[in-house]
Amino acid sequence: MWCPLSQLGPRTQLPPHPNGHLERSKYLPVPDAADKVGMALNSGLPPGVGPYYENHGYQPESLYPPQPARAPSAFSVYPAHYYPPAVPHYTVRVLTNASTPAVRTQPKSSSGTPCTSKTKKALCITFSLVTVLAGAVVASVLLWKFTESKCTVSGMECGSSGTCVSAFQWCDGILHCPSGEDENQCVRLYGPNFILQVYSPQRKSWHPVCRDDWSESYGKAACQDMGYRNSFYSSQGIADDSGATSFMKLNLSASHSDLYQKLYHSDVCSSKTVVSLRCIECGVNRKMGRQSRIVGGASAAPGDWPWQVSLHVQNVHVCGGSIITPEWVVTAAHCVEEPLSHPRYWTAFAGTLRQSSMFYGDGYRVEKVISHPDYDSKTKNNDVALMKLQTPLPFNDRVKPVCLPNPGMMLEPKQPCWISGWGATSEKGKTSDLLNAAMVPLIEPVLCNSRYVYNSLITPSMFCAGYLQGNVDSCQGDSGGPLVTLKNSVWWLIGETSWGSGCAKANRPGVYGNVTVFTDWIHRQMRANS
Ligand code: ARG
Repeated sequence: MWCPLSQLGPRTQLPPHPNGHLERSKYLPVPDAADKVGMALNSGLPPGVGPYYENHGYQPESLYPPQPARAPSAFSVYPAHYYPPAVPHYTVRVLTNASTPAVRTQPKSSSGTPCTSKTKKALCITFSLVTVLAGAVVASVLLWKFTESKCTVSGMECGSSGTCVSAFQWCDGILHCPSGEDENQCVRLYGPNFILQVYSPQRKSWHPVCRDDWSESYGKAACQDMGYRNSFYSSQGIADDSGATSFMKLNLSASHSDLYQKLYHSDVCSSKTVVSLRCIECGVNRKMGRQSRIVGGASAAPGDWPWQVSLHVQNVHVCGGSIITPEWVVTAAHCVEEPLSHPRYWTAFAGTLRQSSMFYGDGYRVEKVISHPDYDSKTKNNDVALMKLQTPLPFNDRVKPVCLPNPGMMLEPKQPCWISGWGATSEKGKTSDLLNAAMVPLIEPVLCNSRYVYNSLITPSMFCAGYLQGNVDSCQGDSGGPLVTLKNSVWWLIGETSWGSGCAKANRPGVYGNVTVFTDWIHRQMRANS
């Protein structure tokens, strides 16, 4: 992390770094693809001229567009309803009857048309009939092909499998889809108060759960559904400030044991409170309550960033990561690209500030590495990965999880955020021995995508943070590490370090994976691999 305010002085006075290259490059055959993006971006540019980048990796229309399941809410400064409703894992397909070639009746014969003599007329009629018939056959084949893998208006498709289930079977507690998509994501936490919401397939929208008749055991069940195996922290009723007019309510007399089958729609919630659910105690650090702020960039003190981990390959720090549960760490997909995709290469160190104090035996071995299936190494779209540790981390003052961001966080356009890591303290410099942290404000996507900055390279799965004048930034070796913000007295993992063109340069701020967009993917992986 480059923080010249505290460490290096103005950029122009930097001595050339003796090492010239990253430590990681000595050990790792993988070129840093993020840097390739940066090179492409800058190549052939006269100084001071806006970047030009031919982004061949961009696919404007892929089969499954990389739309986030919900609004990219690192910048949800707009009310939630501003964005298209989040619908889990299916798209409602509408029969495109309009694409059926229209079968036209032959125009009446008239003088001047070829159908004049009797034989000609007969030939004409036969020809027309054959044409019409052939047209009809082609049309029906096309129509059949086209609708074959799609569900009717009322049905919902299981992922892209072509299997349809009715809306009433979605989120009813019974598996209907071959891969369980129908029961996959029926519950979520919304906003900075962790409001529990349940998806209503009939109304195709999310609704808060009324506190009436709620008990902790339901909270535990909902946490399990979000992939928290045995973890549950609190479940309480709070005043509903979302202005919801429709709630999900428990029907205690229902014979089902399944939580979702017990829930029904109701416009009244007599307690006037909704369920706020926390599955893990997360987002607390040493600074809580002390109101202290980190300025510019400085080395961290024990317990400042207790979720930060250092990910080593062959005893060398390669990337950062963030603890979200005792056994799951969030990092960047580009960190675990081939040939480093196998868990055996990786060791995670938690609770230690100095690289020189991390000894092999104290590390945590990795059991699984899961990279986002839509990660694109060229564009860095969906640059997120998960690591499951072989043994759970014991939490203490220096080792604690950060909170995954919920949709509907409503961050400010320039929300102050903190980045931390052992990355280089100058462009092309080497890994830092001490953990550093710096404050960087969010940068609005439109601004970051402008011609003078990243010229449309920022997708909804990314956002920028830092300063357009440069000087404070993350750098090589910080990748995968956290970008957090404090809201409602809780620290949230809003981003993970992904790429940038150089480090701390003017108009080239750091680019971060938009974790809010990945929250449900993360929950699904935790659930499927618990
Ligand atoms: N890709 C880098 C890494 O692997 C992180 C680069 C961040 N760059 C920046 N200018 N913020 O560590």
